Amino acid sequence: MKKYFSSRLVIAVMPFCVALTPFNKVLAQAKTEDAKMNAYVKGLMSKMTLDEKIGQLNLVTIGAATTGSVVNKGVEENIKNGSIGGVFGVWGTTQTRQIQDIAVKNSRLHIPLIFGLDVIHGHRTIFPIPLGMSATWDMGLIKQSAQIAAKEATGEGLNWVFSPMVDIARDPRWGRISEGSGEDPWYGSQVAKAMVQGYQGTSMKDADAVMACVKHFALYGGAEAGREYNTVDMSRIKMYQDYLPPYKAAVDAGAGSFMSSFNTVDGVPATVNQWLLTDLLRKQWGFKGFVVSDYTAVNEVTDHGLGDLQTVSALALKAGLDMDMVGEGFLKTLKNSLTQKKITQQEIDLACRRVLEAKYKLGLFDNPYKSMDADKEAKEELSTANRAAAREITKHSFVLLKNDNQTLPLKKGGSIALVGPLADNHRDMLGTWVIAGEWQKSVSVMEGIKNVVGNNVAINYAMGANITEDSLFIKRLNFGPGMVSLDAKPANELLKEAVDAAKKSDVIVAVVGESQSMSGESSSRSDIDIPESQKNMLKELSKLGKPMVIVLFNGRPLTLTWEDKHANAILDVWAPGTEAGNAIADVLFGDYNPAGKLTATFPRSVGQIPIYYNHKNTGRPYKGGPSKFRSNYLDISNDPLYPFGYGLSYTTFNYSAVSVNKTKLKGNETLTANVTVTNTGKYAGEEVVQLYISDPVASISRSVKELKGYQKISLQPGASKQVSFTITPEQLKFYNTQLKYDWEPGEFVVEIGTNSADTHNASVWWAK
Ligand code: BGC
Repeated sequence: MKKYFSSRLVIAVMPFCVALTPFNKVLAQAKTEDAKMNAYVKGLMSKMTLDEKIGQLNLVTIGAATTGSVVNKGVEENIKNGSIGGVFGVWGTTQTRQIQDIAVKNSRLHIPLIFGLDVIHGHRTIFPIPLGMSATWDMGLIKQSAQIAAKEATGEGLNWVFSPMVDIARDPRWGRISEGSGEDPWYGSQVAKAMVQGYQGTSMKDADAVMACVKHFALYGGAEAGREYNTVDMSRIKMYQDYLPPYKAAVDAGAGSFMSSFNTVDGVPATVNQWLLTDLLRKQWGFKGFVVSDYTAVNEVTDHGLGDLQTVSALALKAGLDMDMVGEGFLKTLKNSLTQKKITQQEIDLACRRVLEAKYKLGLFDNPYKSMDADKEAKEELSTANRAAAREITKHSFVLLKNDNQTLPLKKGGSIALVGPLADNHRDMLGTWVIAGEWQKSVSVMEGIKNVVGNNVAINYAMGANITEDSLFIKRLNFGPGMVSLDAKPANELLKEAVDAAKKSDVIVAVVGESQSMSGESSSRSDIDIPESQKNMLKELSKLGKPMVIVLFNGRPLTLTWEDKHANAILDVWAPGTEAGNAIADVLFGDYNPAGKLTATFPRSVGQIPIYYNHKNTGRPYKGGPSKFRSNYLDISNDPLYPFGYGLSYTTFNYSAVSVNKTKLKGNETLTANVTVTNTGKYAGEEVVQLYISDPVASISRSVKELKGYQKISLQPGASKQVSFTITPEQLKFYNTQLKYDWEPGEFVVEIGTNSADTHNASVWWAK
């Protein structure tokens, strides 16, 4: 980027001071604030030309980080003449300040730009991928990760993050399952809220706050066959009940912006879908922010088959889309469409007003350089405190999938064979969407183990296998330079080194799974096994009869039937982020007892997909075991390998029967359901106690059960705790055929347990 101006500019565009107000006057103050904002934006818009208004609707990327196949040209000129409202894909105080300078010094009305970036699971300090973060079942930690990301981002010129992604996903072939919180709408809603609150804080004007952009609206995770960008088609009931709640939760949490998705919703591409962007989002849910398209999504509506660029741009604006990302359809065609009366001046004004309001709410008219703070940048970026928080948070995201005979924790002595392509590896620690993350600064598993056990454990290292030997797959994974690092040695030589290392060691720690580019956007897989080269290594090692621990890297649920049968322990660490190795070693050697629980079901085979715990019963329900004329398979059970909510601990927990304070209720009464959980093992540990409710008789066929609450508790060995859940009719509600959200009287089954498939239950009758 060319250097434009170096001096700091204080721009006088009607700054407003917000006075501190007592709590009981917050509402009145909000009204005054709104009135001030309206007056300000109205005043500004009265000075704007049509071109300048359309310019505010144009979001460009300058290509410092490219996340699509098109990069904008002529950006400097376009900023000067007021044809750009925001920029993304660039960060850093110097760079963003130079660009902001052009807007506030050289454009006619000095309107500041908004700066966005894909800050998804951390900015500089990278946390586990969102699917891993969701496995913490800890909203405090999730919120904290967003706060740290916002703090780092606001030191580097950013005020807008394209996160959280709240798309429900039930198909692990879809690579973007890694970016969300799994399959459950209620749980996904909790995460959506925590993330929005973490980013935006109490006011987007605050120095450490960024505006969230909730994506991808809507239903993107329902792509047919798990194939990226594919068609989505589902009933309205399924949308409302299972897919829309997290977006709604984000609106309720005050999210400042939304991003439209690439897919169709009810046959109409989301980006031009008036029902979605206006009727549902704004009229039903009361969303007040602005909606940006996904990357060139307006242009892609042409490929969806709805017409040329001018037609689809007009459709998008009319539907309620306010900002066009990268494609410049708005910039190039809206004026013509207005002349031809295909759109109205009011429609352009409305979109422009929403974008300006967002800038106002961020305080950019008070100080366009608000987040361009070199001191903060230097202080926050990968600070000791941020890294320490990441190490702590990361440990909580790991899920112990198997642990026979207390193979884990390992003792801090003796010898280990540390093998696998991800064992001495920095590149793959961070996972997908780490635009400003530096993999070079991540802690490898090898380093982490050395940090935690020093010289007390002898490490016999061998790479053992390349991540894959499939040359076509390698080509696809290597879409950026050096994304896959391969050892040129023949596979059998690598394998022999691993076997030799294992022979010399007491225990095998195999660090295997998916590399960074195997999941995320445009990374669908039809086979979700651990790649063959690595599996061959595991097979050879298992023949030695030594204890074998798998440390599993994965951006999605994988099919692990062989591994589950042959490994002694499996620790799922997802893509753990900057502090990967330290957090892994903390858990492997017992300094922290893992407590993460799955938020997406692990199938036994791809043939079972889509597979999720809150499915319907069907008219011929599966009852376990093979049976003719039932809803099942000839060749495999219906049961997943690891169910939703599953995760072990180094200790064991016993659950008592469920007791309820009443079995007959009426109207708005409250039910209390209790269970006593006892730590029956040797280690102190945390447990996520989960509450599910089912509604066996209703006017529509309901899911077999639905998560309605959880509590994360901590117990010393031998200790017990009574866990109480308060249940109100609100938790019994569902969408009926009229899409009315209500509950129906009758029997309800309350289930409490350690995962969705292992619960104790009690029935109650609830009258209206
Ligand atoms: C992705 C979005 C992302 C955008 C900007 C798109 O390809 O779908 O999730 O925010 O690019 O980078």
